[in-house]
Amino acid sequence: MKRTSRIPGFYKVTVEERRSLVAEATGEDAASIGRSLDGGGLDAETADKFVENVLGTYALPYGVALNVRVNGHDYVVPMVVEEPSVVAAASNASKMVRAGGGFVAEVDAPIMTSQIQLTAVTDYPRAREAILAHEAEILERANRSIPGLVARGGGARGVEVRSLGDASDQMMVVHVLVDCQDAMGANLVNTVAEAVADRLAELASGKVGLRILSNLCDRRCVRVTARVPLDVLATDDMDGAAVADGIVNASRFAELDPYRAATHNKGIMNGIDAVTIATGNDWRAVEAGAHAFAARSGRYSPLATWRREGDVLVGKIELPMALGTVGGTLRVHPGARLSLRLLGTESASQLATVAAAMGLASNLAAVRALATDGIQRGHMALHARSVAVAAGATGELVARVAQMIVEARDITVDAAKRALGVLRKESDSATALGD
Ligand code: MEV
Repeated sequence: MKRTSRIPGFYKVTVEERRSLVAEATGEDAASIGRSLDGGGLDAETADKFVENVLGTYALPYGVALNVRVNGHDYVVPMVVEEPSVVAAASNASKMVRAGGGFVAEVDAPIMTSQIQLTAVTDYPRAREAILAHEAEILERANRSIPGLVARGGGARGVEVRSLGDASDQMMVVHVLVDCQDAMGANLVNTVAEAVADRLAELASGKVGLRILSNLCDRRCVRVTARVPLDVLATDDMDGAAVADGIVNASRFAELDPYRAATHNKGIMNGIDAVTIATGNDWRAVEAGAHAFAARSGRYSPLATWRREGDVLVGKIELPMALGTVGGTLRVHPGARLSLRLLGTESASQLATVAAAMGLASNLAAVRALATDGIQRGHMALHARSVAVAAGATGELVARVAQMIVEARDITVDAAKRALGVLRKESDSATALGD
């Protein structure tokens, strides 16, 4: 079957109907979507095996972004997030990008860095030479410690040596670069660090310090480009070219000001974290890598930038992405396993391209809103839907009540109850008249 990410009217139907539509679009069984997600996708007994002192689980909304096309593939993208409008924004922006052919992504090999700190090194040049002369032996030791990964085609690929501080620090660090295949790799890389540390200290005539992965996994970057035709950017009040210029202005603001860059990047992480969490991955690791990468020049910078090229707005994002599709939480979390089935991929690299695309989509939606109506209008429209539900609206009444309270500029449960009363009265008199 051909997967599709286009499901018009999806937001208007019930949760149950959405499950059926996603089942049709992805080939997943609707009942299994329900089974995997009811109870938050994780029962207390399984949760008790994840962490310590468990009392229960803590659920968050699980939505899907639609309209997403990356490298010619359609993806229904699972997103776990508590913030209203993130999923809608990613879907809307993906539709705009789709009009220009979809996201185009490239991804590095899944190389993670294992760090071994060495202290009390009195002769760095000699230590460096000795370690590099024994690179093959170090790689062999590393690979002996991770036979499963080597059997899957991964393993240690290279050794780097760096001096830290000045001579009085007597400190250096050795990086062992490890191809982690479809694993996020933290455990593998930590195992490698511990396996080679003593030999490295011996070669450097120093002492072993810390042995741990680096979350600045800049060997494992993903780059995504979006080319958006100007006309699809237009709003009721602004033409596409004016919106594009506003978006370029927003990009320049983030490029010139770290205070703005932090917020710009927060909007990007709205999309990336939501996919990271939905797929059972370590979002703190992804966050740490993203922000360290954003500051790599010594100045905190935006992870995504936008420029106009004639009739097209071009957005680019680049960041490290340590995501896995095997091991850890993923094996045992039914919700995370469902996410990979909905995405239709077992490849960590493919998952990384989708997550980065959702970062770029979230950024496009945010800067477009900021460059036009401002962010509050869209937020309020969505907030109005939850207020309508809180007032007792169901089915198609949700959207109608929400629209009425937005138009009245009174987004409160009382106003929603009044609107609901009016609509119900209208519907009763229509029934009485035989409409
Ligand atoms: C809110 O979650 C994210 C934004 O602040 C991002 C931005 O300002 O670019 C809207």
